[in-house]
Amino acid sequence: MPSVFRGSLLFFTSDPKDDGEQAVHHIEDGLLLVDDNGLISAVGAYADLMDTLPAGVNITDYSGKLLMPGFVDCHVHYPQTEMIAAYGTQLLDWLQTHTFPVESQFSDFDYGVGIAERFCTELLRNGTTTALVFGTVHPQSVEAFFSVAQRRNLRMIAGKVMMDRHAPATVLDTAETSYQESKALIEKWHGVDRLLYAVTPRFAPTSTPQQLQRAGQLLAEHPDVYLHTHLSENLDEIAWVSALFPDCRDYLDVYEQAGLLGKRSVFAHGIHLCDRECERMAASDSVIAHCPSSNLFLGSGLFNLKRMDDYGIRVGVGSDVGGGSSFSTFDTLADAYKIQQLQGVNLDPYRALYLATLGGARALSLDGRIGSFKPGLEADFIVIDPNATDFLAFRTQHCNSLKELLFVLNTLGDDRLIAATYILGELAHSRAQPPLSTGE
Ligand code: GUN
Ligand code: ZN
Repeated sequence: MPSVFRGSLLFFTSDPKDDGEQAVHHIEDGLLLVDDNGLISAVGAYADLMDTLPAGVNITDYSGKLLMPGFVDCHVHYPQTEMIAAYGTQLLDWLQTHTFPVESQFSDFDYGVGIAERFCTELLRNGTTTALVFGTVHPQSVEAFFSVAQRRNLRMIAGKVMMDRHAPATVLDTAETSYQESKALIEKWHGVDRLLYAVTPRFAPTSTPQQLQRAGQLLAEHPDVYLHTHLSENLDEIAWVSALFPDCRDYLDVYEQAGLLGKRSVFAHGIHLCDRECERMAASDSVIAHCPSSNLFLGSGLFNLKRMDDYGIRVGVGSDVGGGSSFSTFDTLADAYKIQQLQGVNLDPYRALYLATLGGARALSLDGRIGSFKPGLEADFIVIDPNATDFLAFRTQHCNSLKELLFVLNTLGDDRLIAATYILGELAHSRAQPPLSTGE
């Protein structure tokens, strides 16, 4: 017997930047059917599908609410959950003052489990069903994260940080141990259930050239794992990279010389790239995770989305918690809009929601599994309540089109809009019955 959900369906089948409104699918009164394996088996109008339903099937009725594919967060740090909203400084000082001391605690597996539980609960409360996640340098941090994600049946990508210089000893490995530990984690976890591995050198300044070479070796030995790192976020960082790697043409070249570019390589930020770097990003089909709330919070700069589009670079969006100041994709999209406004460009709400769903899935090469509503895809979806608060009910009454409604929701929305989150067709979060938060 399928699980059947009724509501207003909204999903994308291509990028609105290419196909305009043809990319947007809105079925006002729709049905989403999910089979026993948690895969979507049918999508369509209630009027068309209701006669095909088996007799006696139970329909979960979300009439008046929007059903969308779950959000995809293309860059986030689970160990930084406890230090979100840390006051004061920009990237390099923020890492030393706040980040490294917090991350040093994750040599303790149980500590990692507690934070991973809270992190996953927070993602689901905010409608995020898949994320590309940084651990810490400790392999136990990734063991902890994957154990929690596996128990919750989540589709997640994560990896152990590789860093062998310019940080306290409590968060350092070596080129050799980072290689061995990453390899063991890949062998244990990559492709197990819904989990995938990302080779994760933190960023160029905290890795020796030898360690970056070892990261490249891991990718060469395991061609279907991901590469996840930071790139060109902050001007002091960029100056430091050019001092540390005088033989490289630019920041991206540091990674390129180590063999780290490719279609499963995701670089967070990419705010200050030169033309050559953009050309190489596009030619290698590498991906940028744009993290608007982090870029504002850490004062890093204004990301030029149109320039990336013009180069044909794939872009996803990320919260970058704890550099980012919210787990909510609505906050991320609201900040993305404001960043483009400051550059005289409007980010259309369809494009924004595409980037948070199918665009994110494409950025992570997961569009064959998640990101849209189509038979065969995994049924990770969210239920959005446009009347979640008295004020939203008032404001949305004054919307005259779907596009306007979505823009208002993107701009004003937060976790209260997420009435429910489903993983493989099973309820994983409901605002009506908030799950008790496990962990610390
Ligand atoms: N660059 C290197 N490490 C980090 C980090 O933890 N957060 C952000 N935003 N940038 C980084
Ligand atoms: Zn980051």
